[in-house]
Amino acid sequence: MTHPIIAAIEARNTINLFDPSQSISDEQISELVRLATRAPTAFNLQNWRFIAARTTEAKQRLRKVAWDQAKVEEAAVTFIVCGQMTDERVLADRLAPAVDAGIMPASMVPSWEAGAKMLYAGQVWRQRDEAVRTATFGATTLIYAAHALGLGAAPMIGFDHEAVAHEFDLLPNEIPVMLLAVGHAKPENWPQKPRRPLAQVLDII
Ligand SMILES: Cc1cc2nc3c(=O)[nH]c(=O)nc-3n(C[C@H](O)[C@H](O)[C@H](O)COP(=O)(O)O)c2cc1C
Repeated sequence: MTHPIIAAIEARNTINLFDPSQSISDEQISELVRLATRAPTAFNLQNWRFIAARTTEAKQRLRKVAWDQAKVEEAAVTFIVCGQMTDERVLADRLAPAVDAGIMPASMVPSWEAGAKMLYAGQVWRQRDEAVRTATFGATTLIYAAHALGLGAAPMIGFDHEAVAHEFDLLPNEIPVMLLAVGHAKPENWPQKPRRPLAQVLDII
């Protein structure tokens, strides 16, 4: 039998047409983000924030700064998936639960802090790259969580970054990496499109 994770990878498609008459509950939204935050992040920094636009008013506001893409409003919820520029000074706090749980020895924390400082301190592009990686892992995991709950998802880069940041009061260290519409898919969506041949994208060395 095909493993359910493999089956989800094979079956997931990007949704363009959502059923606007079907909403999802705040509990489902919370569950989606809870699962999304199980994704890995560098040093377990968890430098992300998910803004869930679920009211008609919030979705319309978002649609206006997202190339007027109808799915922003027609989906039950559209997330603004934000990455936060990495700041190694928050690392001890972020690692504390792993220390408390007995997973990570407390004596190891300073070496992780030193590694993060070496990578990110004063390195704006690395801080930004990490924010984008973090948000992308979170968004990807959210897409598969949605699939598992019988919902479809649409990642979007078609939006005005500055306008989204301004309209939704993002903090100066936050980057709106992606919009992610989630909701009930209409049956007439395209299936997953064919991918490039493996020979073009894989080098085994
Ligand atoms: C980072 C990213 C940004 C995207 N931005 C948009 C977008 O703004 N509008 C849109 O209609 N589709 C957008 N897409 C959807 C892609 O066109 C779609 O995922 C791709 O064609 C593959 O579709 P499939 O996974 O169903 O095969 C985006 C996808 C990704 C991963």
